[in-house]
Amino acid sequence: MTLKGRSFLTLKDFTPEEIGYLLDLAADLKAKKKKGITGESLKGKNIALIFEKPSTRTRCSFTIGARDEGGFPEYLSDRDIQLGHKESIEDTARVLGRMFDGIEFRGFKQETVEKLAKYSGVPVWNGLTDEYHPTQILADFLTIREQFGHLKGIKLVFVGDGRNNMANSLMIGSAKMGLDFTILAPKALWPAESLVELCKGYAAETGAKINVTDDLDAVKGADALYTDVWCSMGEEDKAAERIALLSPYQVNEELFARTGNEKCILLHCLPAVKGKEVTYETFEKRAEVVFDEAENRMHTIKAVMVATLGNI
Ligand code: CP
Ligand code: NVA
Repeated sequence: MTLKGRSFLTLKDFTPEEIGYLLDLAADLKAKKKKGITGESLKGKNIALIFEKPSTRTRCSFTIGARDEGGFPEYLSDRDIQLGHKESIEDTARVLGRMFDGIEFRGFKQETVEKLAKYSGVPVWNGLTDEYHPTQILADFLTIREQFGHLKGIKLVFVGDGRNNMANSLMIGSAKMGLDFTILAPKALWPAESLVELCKGYAAETGAKINVTDDLDAVKGADALYTDVWCSMGEEDKAAERIALLSPYQVNEELFARTGNEKCILLHCLPAVKGKEVTYETFEKRAEVVFDEAENRMHTIKAVMVATLGNI
Protein backbone atom coordinates (compact mmCIF):
# COMPACT_ATOMS: atom_id res chain seq x y z
CA MET A 1 0.00 0.00 0.00
CA THR A 2 1.22 3.51 -0.71
CA LEU A 3 -0.29 6.88 0.11
CA LYS A 4 2.65 8.77 -1.39
CA GLY A 5 1.70 12.18 -2.73
CA ARG A 6 -1.81 12.10 -1.22
CA SER A 7 -3.36 14.92 0.80
CA PHE A 8 -5.20 14.22 4.07
CA LEU A 9 -8.22 16.52 4.06
CA THR A 10 -11.07 14.35 5.36
CA LEU A 11 -11.41 10.65 6.17
CA LYS A 12 -14.09 10.47 3.46
CA ASP A 13 -11.21 10.23 0.97
CA PHE A 14 -9.67 7.13 2.60
CA THR A 15 -10.65 3.46 2.50
CA PRO A 16 -10.82 1.34 5.68
CA GLU A 17 -7.63 -0.41 4.50
CA GLU A 18 -5.82 2.92 4.11
CA ILE A 19 -6.93 4.11 7.55
CA GLY A 20 -5.84 0.76 9.01
CA TYR A 21 -2.48 1.14 7.29
CA LEU A 22 -1.96 4.60 8.86
CA LEU A 23 -2.84 3.18 12.29
CA ASP A 24 -0.40 0.28 11.85
CA LEU A 25 2.33 2.67 10.73
CA ALA A 26 1.64 4.94 13.72
CA ALA A 27 1.83 1.98 16.13
CA ASP A 28 5.13 0.95 14.56
CA LEU A 29 6.58 4.49 14.76
CA LYS A 30 5.40 4.73 18.38
CA ALA A 31 7.05 1.43 19.33
CA LYS A 32 10.28 2.58 17.67
CA LYS A 33 10.24 5.96 19.38
CA LYS A 34 9.78 4.25 22.76
CA LYS A 35 13.00 2.39 22.02
CA GLY A 36 14.73 5.66 21.10
CA ILE A 37 14.67 4.90 17.40
CA THR A 38 13.73 7.75 15.07
CA GLY A 39 14.10 7.85 11.29
CA GLU A 40 15.17 9.89 8.32
CA SER A 41 12.20 9.35 6.05
CA LEU A 42 11.48 13.10 5.91
CA LYS A 43 15.10 14.12 5.46
CA GLY A 44 15.37 17.18 3.22
CA LYS A 45 11.60 17.82 3.40
CA ASN A 46 10.41 21.30 4.31
CA ILE A 47 6.99 21.43 5.92
CA ALA A 48 4.79 24.53 6.33
CA LEU A 49 2.49 24.61 9.35
CA ILE A 50 -0.27 27.19 8.82
CA PHE A 51 -2.39 28.03 11.86
CA GLU A 52 -5.35 30.44 11.68
CA LYS A 53 -6.55 29.01 15.02
CA PRO A 54 -4.47 28.23 18.12
CA SER A 55 -3.14 24.76 18.92
CA THR A 56 -1.02 22.87 21.42
CA ARG A 57 -1.26 19.20 20.40
CA THR A 58 -1.57 19.53 16.63
CA ARG A 59 1.20 22.08 16.25
CA CYS A 60 3.57 20.18 18.52
CA SER A 61 2.72 16.85 16.86
CA PHE A 62 3.57 18.15 13.39
CA THR A 63 6.72 19.83 14.69
CA ILE A 64 8.03 16.87 16.69
CA GLY A 65 6.82 14.34 14.13
CA ALA A 66 8.65 16.13 11.33
CA ARG A 67 11.83 16.62 13.38
CA ASP A 68 11.91 12.98 14.50
CA GLU A 69 12.03 11.95 10.85
CA GLY A 70 14.60 14.54 9.77
CA GLY A 71 12.17 17.08 8.28
CA PHE A 72 12.13 20.85 8.77
CA PRO A 73 8.86 22.38 10.03
CA GLU A 74 8.13 26.11 9.68
CA TYR A 75 5.27 27.62 11.71
CA LEU A 76 3.19 30.31 9.99
CA SER A 77 0.41 31.95 12.00
CA ASP A 78 -2.28 34.12 10.45
CA ARG A 79 -0.34 37.12 11.73
CA ASP A 80 2.69 36.05 9.68
CA ILE A 81 1.06 35.49 6.30
CA GLN A 82 -1.69 37.12 4.24
CA LEU A 83 -3.63 33.96 3.50
CA GLY A 84 -6.99 34.96 2.07
CA HIS A 85 -6.62 38.60 3.15
CA LYS A 86 -4.04 40.48 1.13
CA GLU A 87 -3.14 37.46 -0.97
CA SER A 88 -5.53 34.91 -2.42
CA ILE A 89 -5.39 31.37 -1.05
CA GLU A 90 -4.61 30.16 -4.57
CA ASP A 91 -1.53 32.41 -4.81
CA THR A 92 -0.22 31.60 -1.33
CA ALA A 93 -0.72 27.91 -2.13
CA ARG A 94 1.28 28.19 -5.37
CA VAL A 95 4.12 30.04 -3.61
CA LEU A 96 4.30 27.62 -0.69
CA GLY A 97 4.13 24.69 -3.10
CA ARG A 98 7.30 25.98 -4.79
CA MET A 99 9.20 26.08 -1.49
CA PHE A 100 7.71 23.42 0.75
CA ASP A 101 7.24 19.69 0.28
CA GLY A 102 4.14 19.44 2.49
CA ILE A 103 1.66 21.84 4.09
CA GLU A 104 -0.43 21.50 7.25
CA PHE A 105 -3.42 23.82 7.62
CA ARG A 106 -5.57 24.54 10.68
CA GLY A 107 -8.28 27.13 10.36
CA PHE A 108 -11.87 27.93 9.70
CA LYS A 109 -13.06 26.82 6.28
CA GLN A 110 -12.71 23.33 4.85
CA GLU A 111 -12.71 25.06 1.48
CA THR A 112 -9.37 26.71 2.36
CA VAL A 113 -7.57 23.43 3.03
CA GLU A 114 -9.07 22.02 -0.16
CA LYS A 115 -7.85 25.01 -2.18
CA LEU A 116 -4.38 24.71 -0.66
CA ALA A 117 -4.27 21.09 -1.82
CA LYS A 118 -5.56 21.93 -5.27
CA TYR A 119 -3.16 24.79 -5.97
CA SER A 120 0.04 23.93 -4.06
CA GLY A 121 0.75 20.64 -5.81
CA VAL A 122 2.15 19.10 -2.60
CA PRO A 123 0.48 16.95 0.08
CA VAL A 124 -1.73 19.06 2.37
CA TRP A 125 -2.86 17.84 5.79
CA ASN A 126 -5.96 19.07 7.59
CA GLY A 127 -5.01 20.03 11.15
CA LEU A 128 -8.67 20.98 11.92
CA THR A 129 -11.32 23.04 10.19
CA ASP A 130 -14.81 24.06 11.31
CA GLU A 131 -16.09 20.89 9.62
CA TYR A 132 -13.52 18.16 10.23
CA HIS A 133 -10.57 17.10 12.39
CA PRO A 134 -9.35 13.94 10.65
CA THR A 135 -5.90 13.58 12.24
CA GLN A 136 -7.55 13.55 15.68
CA ILE A 137 -9.58 10.47 14.70
CA LEU A 138 -6.41 8.52 13.95
CA ALA A 139 -5.15 9.24 17.47
CA ASP A 140 -8.54 8.32 18.95
CA PHE A 141 -8.66 5.04 17.04
CA LEU A 142 -5.05 4.14 17.89
CA THR A 143 -5.98 4.69 21.55
CA ILE A 144 -9.11 2.52 21.24
CA ARG A 145 -7.03 -0.21 19.59
CA GLU A 146 -4.49 -0.03 22.41
CA GLN A 147 -7.26 -0.33 24.99
CA PHE A 148 -9.44 -3.00 23.37
CA GLY A 149 -7.21 -4.62 20.73
CA HIS A 150 -9.56 -3.83 17.84
CA LEU A 151 -12.00 -1.26 16.43
CA LYS A 152 -14.81 -3.32 14.89
CA GLY A 153 -17.94 -3.40 17.02
CA ILE A 154 -16.57 -1.06 19.69
CA LYS A 155 -19.42 1.01 21.08
CA LEU A 156 -18.33 4.64 20.97
CA VAL A 157 -20.68 7.40 22.11
CA PHE A 158 -19.89 11.04 21.38
CA VAL A 159 -21.69 13.27 23.88
CA GLY A 160 -22.00 17.02 23.33
CA ASP A 161 -22.08 19.34 20.32
CA GLY A 162 -23.14 16.75 17.78
CA ARG A 163 -22.54 18.94 14.75
CA ASN A 164 -18.98 20.04 15.41
CA ASN A 165 -15.77 18.96 13.66
CA MET A 166 -15.15 16.14 16.14
CA ALA A 167 -18.63 14.66 15.93
CA ASN A 168 -18.52 14.82 12.11
CA SER A 169 -15.10 13.22 11.82
CA LEU A 170 -15.75 10.55 14.46
CA MET A 171 -18.91 9.58 12.59
CA ILE A 172 -17.04 9.27 9.27
CA GLY A 173 -14.16 7.35 10.85
CA SER A 174 -16.46 5.04 12.81
CA ALA A 175 -18.54 4.29 9.74
CA LYS A 176 -15.42 3.44 7.76
CA MET A 177 -13.88 1.28 10.49
CA GLY A 178 -16.95 -0.68 11.60
CA LEU A 179 -17.61 0.83 15.02
CA ASP A 180 -20.99 1.04 16.74
CA PHE A 181 -21.18 4.83 16.89
CA THR A 182 -23.71 7.13 18.53
CA ILE A 183 -23.98 10.89 18.64
CA LEU A 184 -25.81 11.82 21.83
CA ALA A 185 -26.86 15.46 21.63
CA PRO A 186 -29.91 17.71 21.89
CA LYS A 187 -31.80 17.90 18.58
CA ALA A 188 -30.64 21.49 17.98
CA LEU A 189 -27.06 20.21 17.76
CA TRP A 190 -27.49 17.18 15.55
CA PRO A 191 -25.20 16.73 12.55
CA ALA A 192 -26.28 17.50 8.98
CA GLU A 193 -28.66 14.84 7.70
CA SER A 194 -26.65 14.57 4.47
CA LEU A 195 -23.51 13.58 6.41
CA VAL A 196 -25.43 11.06 8.52
CA GLU A 197 -26.81 9.48 5.33
CA LEU A 198 -23.34 9.37 3.76
CA CYS A 199 -21.96 7.65 6.86
CA LYS A 200 -24.86 5.18 6.94
CA GLY A 201 -23.88 4.34 3.37
CA TYR A 202 -20.30 3.55 4.47
CA ALA A 203 -21.70 1.62 7.44
CA ALA A 204 -23.75 -0.62 5.16
CA GLU A 205 -20.46 -1.81 3.66
CA THR A 206 -18.43 -2.18 6.86
CA GLY A 207 -20.99 -3.41 9.39
CA ALA A 208 -20.72 -0.19 11.39
CA LYS A 209 -23.75 1.23 13.20
CA ILE A 210 -24.56 4.94 13.10
CA ASN A 211 -27.08 6.38 15.52
CA VAL A 212 -28.04 9.97 16.41
CA THR A 213 -30.19 10.48 19.50
CA ASP A 214 -31.00 12.79 22.39
CA ASP A 215 -31.76 9.88 24.76
CA LEU A 216 -29.20 9.52 27.56
CA ASP A 217 -29.98 5.80 27.77
CA ALA A 218 -28.03 5.45 24.51
CA VAL A 219 -24.83 5.20 26.59
CA LYS A 220 -25.86 1.74 27.83
CA GLY A 221 -23.13 -0.77 27.04
CA ALA A 222 -20.68 1.90 25.79
CA ASP A 223 -17.00 0.98 25.64
CA ALA A 224 -15.99 4.64 25.38
CA LEU A 225 -17.65 7.97 26.08
CA TYR A 226 -16.15 10.78 24.02
CA THR A 227 -16.70 14.45 24.65
CA ASP A 228 -15.38 17.79 23.40
CA VAL A 229 -15.77 21.46 24.28
CA TRP A 230 -19.27 22.90 24.04
CA CYS A 231 -17.98 25.94 22.13
CA SER A 232 -15.47 25.19 19.42
CA MET A 233 -12.84 27.73 18.41
CA GLY A 234 -14.58 30.67 16.76
CA GLU A 235 -17.92 29.98 18.54
CA GLU A 236 -17.08 31.50 21.90
CA ASP A 237 -20.03 33.92 21.62
CA LYS A 238 -22.41 30.96 21.79
CA ALA A 239 -21.44 30.04 25.37
CA ALA A 240 -24.74 30.88 27.12
CA GLU A 241 -26.85 29.09 24.51
CA ARG A 242 -24.61 26.00 24.57
CA ILE A 243 -24.56 25.77 28.37
CA ALA A 244 -28.36 25.81 28.36
CA LEU A 245 -28.58 23.14 25.66
CA LEU A 246 -25.76 20.88 26.78
CA SER A 247 -25.80 20.90 30.59
CA PRO A 248 -28.04 17.77 30.65
CA TYR A 249 -25.37 16.09 28.49
CA GLN A 250 -22.41 16.67 30.79
CA VAL A 251 -20.09 13.67 31.05
CA ASN A 252 -19.99 12.81 34.73
CA GLU A 253 -19.98 9.77 37.01
CA GLU A 254 -23.75 9.44 36.71
CA LEU A 255 -23.45 9.09 32.93
CA PHE A 256 -20.63 6.56 33.30
CA ALA A 257 -22.82 4.58 35.75
CA ARG A 258 -25.56 4.60 33.12
CA THR A 259 -23.26 2.73 30.70
CA GLY A 260 -23.40 -0.28 33.02
CA ASN A 261 -19.84 -0.99 31.88
CA GLU A 262 -17.19 -0.59 34.56
CA LYS A 263 -14.48 -0.77 31.90
CA CYS A 264 -15.90 2.14 29.86
CA ILE A 265 -13.15 4.64 29.06
CA LEU A 266 -13.24 8.42 28.64
CA LEU A 267 -11.91 9.97 25.44
CA HIS A 268 -11.47 13.71 24.87
CA CYS A 269 -9.59 15.44 22.05
CA LEU A 270 -8.55 18.22 24.49
CA PRO A 271 -8.37 21.01 25.47
CA ALA A 272 -11.02 20.22 28.12
CA VAL A 273 -13.17 22.75 29.96
CA LYS A 274 -13.66 20.92 33.24
CA GLY A 275 -16.93 21.71 34.93
CA LYS A 276 -18.63 22.08 31.55
CA GLU A 277 -18.56 19.12 29.13
CA VAL A 278 -16.88 16.89 31.74
CA THR A 279 -16.64 17.16 35.51
CA TYR A 280 -13.28 17.64 37.17
CA GLU A 281 -13.79 14.37 39.07
CA THR A 282 -14.57 12.28 36.00
CA PHE A 283 -11.74 13.80 33.99
CA GLU A 284 -9.11 13.24 36.66
CA LYS A 285 -10.30 9.72 37.46
CA ARG A 286 -10.00 8.69 33.81
CA ALA A 287 -7.23 11.01 32.61
CA GLU A 288 -4.58 8.38 31.90
CA VAL A 289 -6.18 7.18 28.67
CA VAL A 290 -6.98 10.75 27.63
CA PHE A 291 -3.29 11.63 27.81
CA ASP A 292 -2.39 8.45 25.89
CA GLU A 293 -4.77 9.82 23.28
CA ALA A 294 -2.99 13.20 23.34
CA GLU A 295 0.39 11.50 22.95
CA ASN A 296 -1.00 9.46 20.08
CA ARG A 297 -1.64 12.67 18.15
CA MET A 298 2.11 12.83 17.57
CA HIS A 299 2.58 9.23 16.47
CA THR A 300 -0.43 9.32 14.12
CA ILE A 301 0.41 12.71 12.61
CA LYS A 302 3.95 11.50 12.07
CA ALA A 303 2.50 8.46 10.29
CA VAL A 304 0.42 10.69 8.00
CA MET A 305 3.49 12.75 7.03
CA VAL A 306 5.70 9.68 6.58
CA ALA A 307 3.09 7.84 4.51
CA THR A 308 2.28 10.73 2.19
CA LEU A 309 5.67 12.41 1.93
CA GLY A 310 8.35 10.17 3.41
CA ASN A 311 10.88 7.91 1.76
CA ILE A 312 9.54 4.58 2.92
N1 CP B 1 -6.92 18.09 20.04
C1 CP B 1 -6.32 19.12 19.44
O1 CP B 1 -6.44 19.31 18.21
O2 CP B 1 -5.62 19.93 20.26
P1 CP B 1 -4.96 21.33 19.88
O3 CP B 1 -6.09 22.28 19.62
O4 CP B 1 -4.14 21.71 21.07
O5 CP B 1 -4.12 21.14 18.65
N1 NVA C 1 -14.24 21.13 18.50
C1 NVA C 1 -13.01 21.69 19.01
C2 NVA C 1 -11.89 20.74 18.83
C3 NVA C 1 -10.58 21.18 19.40
C4 NVA C 1 -9.48 20.19 19.15
C5 NVA C 1 -12.72 23.01 18.31
O1 NVA C 1 -12.89 23.07 17.08
O2 NVA C 1 -12.34 23.97 18.98
